[in-house]
Amino acid sequence: MNVRIIDLPKFEDPRGNLSFIEEGNHIPFKMERIYWIYDVPGGQIRGGHAFKEQKEFIVALSGSFDVIVDNGKTKKTFSLNRSFYGLYIGNGIWRQMENFSTNSVAMVLSSTKFSEEDYIRDYSKFLNFKEDDREEFCL
Ligand code: TYD
Repeated sequence: MNVRIIDLPKFEDPRGNLSFIEEGNHIPFKMERIYWIYDVPGGQIRGGHAFKEQKEFIVALSGSFDVIVDNGKTKKTFSLNRSFYGLYIGNGIWRQMENFSTNSVAMVLSSTKFSEEDYIRDYSKFLNFKEDDREEFCL
């Protein structure tokens, strides 16, 4: 499944909870980059593109937001609001992030270093991209 929620380890403790991600154990790619999105003003929308190669794993480290994924045929909304799970998005999937709560932080683990050439920012080009090989995602 190229779009799915992945649960992370969670150590519950009266002193506060702890979760972690290990390369090779919890996410299905080698992480090359981590970035985070924060201080998002109310009503703003992030994303609005797909990647040719890049795979991502998105965690709501704080607060909540919605990720709308689209494989060109079907859209699905995932609400992320806890830091002990995240959303894996394979390559070739259009995504948009919205409904950010105040002080929310989206941490994104990426399988590649930043490359503008890997972005598909035009939805009609996305629909033409690898139309035959685009995988279904689980709904
Ligand atoms: P972009 O991925 O378009 O943002 P969004 O989260 O809305 O999809 O990135 C916004 C800008 O930041 C873009 O001009 C490129 C730059 N950027 C980097 O330089 N390195 C990075 O790792 C990322 C994610 C973005």
